[in-house]
Amino acid sequence: MSKVTVIGAGNVGATCVNALAFKEVADEVVVLDVKEGISEGKAIDMSQTAQLLEFDTTVVGCTNDYAKTAGSDVIVITSGIPRKPGMTREELIGVNAGIVKNVAGNALKHSPNAILVVISNPMDTMTYLALKSLGLPKNRIIGMGGALDSSRFKYYLSQALGCNANEVEGIVIGGHGDTTMIPLVRLAAYKGIRVTELLSKEKLEEVVKATMTGGATLTGLLGTSAWYAPGAAGALVVESIIHNRRKLIPCSAALEGEYGESDICIGVPVIVGKNGIEKIVDLNLNAEEKALFAKSAAAVRTTNAVLKEINVL
Ligand code: 2OP
Repeated sequence: MSKVTVIGAGNVGATCVNALAFKEVADEVVVLDVKEGISEGKAIDMSQTAQLLEFDTTVVGCTNDYAKTAGSDVIVITSGIPRKPGMTREELIGVNAGIVKNVAGNALKHSPNAILVVISNPMDTMTYLALKSLGLPKNRIIGMGGALDSSRFKYYLSQALGCNANEVEGIVIGGHGDTTMIPLVRLAAYKGIRVTELLSKEKLEEVVKATMTGGATLTGLLGTSAWYAPGAAGALVVESIIHNRRKLIPCSAALEGEYGESDICIGVPVIVGKNGIEKIVDLNLNAEEKALFAKSAAAVRTTNAVLKEINVL
């Protein structure tokens, strides 16, 4: 039997649970929240869509009862506050770091072999916090950001190309931040044709900018941060783990020399399978991309340093 726990029944957590159930990724999905009744209510509501959407996954909600999450194969962490318009993801660290450390520790006590998928922001730093504080091997801690950023990149590319987004290839690496993410234009393609041959330099610059600020644009429109694509991106990572699909997904991973960096979690292309991070793929970046990656890593490190200042590490 496969079991996934999603911590946090807010917009992102609930959307992730919904995608996992609808796609029947696991036999059972447990959703846990601190707010009394929220996770139970959402779980029952979703369970009542099972006959309508024809899925068999059992969805269970619980208020802070970690015993119900026991034996999970994957734990998804979405807890914490989302950003408001005008805020950066990095500004959430003071509130979210303590929450993430606490819920991840509690969940692991009941599922000691689980793989952890981190969604809470600032995502790379929360992934690093999990790595440094939980004592898990590095393959079992994955940050979701690059999966989301790459889907936004492909969306904006498809808009510019006037084509089906499913036929576009695109990878975003680096930090999951408005100024730290790196959409890799050189490697993006439509049906095998490089987008650099199909779109002007100016158009591609627009696509890159729209991708990098994609989350902020939605926060401006919605008044809080986005949830459909973040939740679905989390579900994509979980699916690749549970079904050992070995998909190449850009994710925040602990680096030990790869891409010239160590002691950091940051977005790189990862083969995701039953052991979590099965492999970090080397993209052979050119000099310009390498410089962008080093700059992005430095910015992520600056945020990571706050963990010590606020005494959570
Ligand atoms: C976003 O980019 C929530 O960080 C997430 O929308």
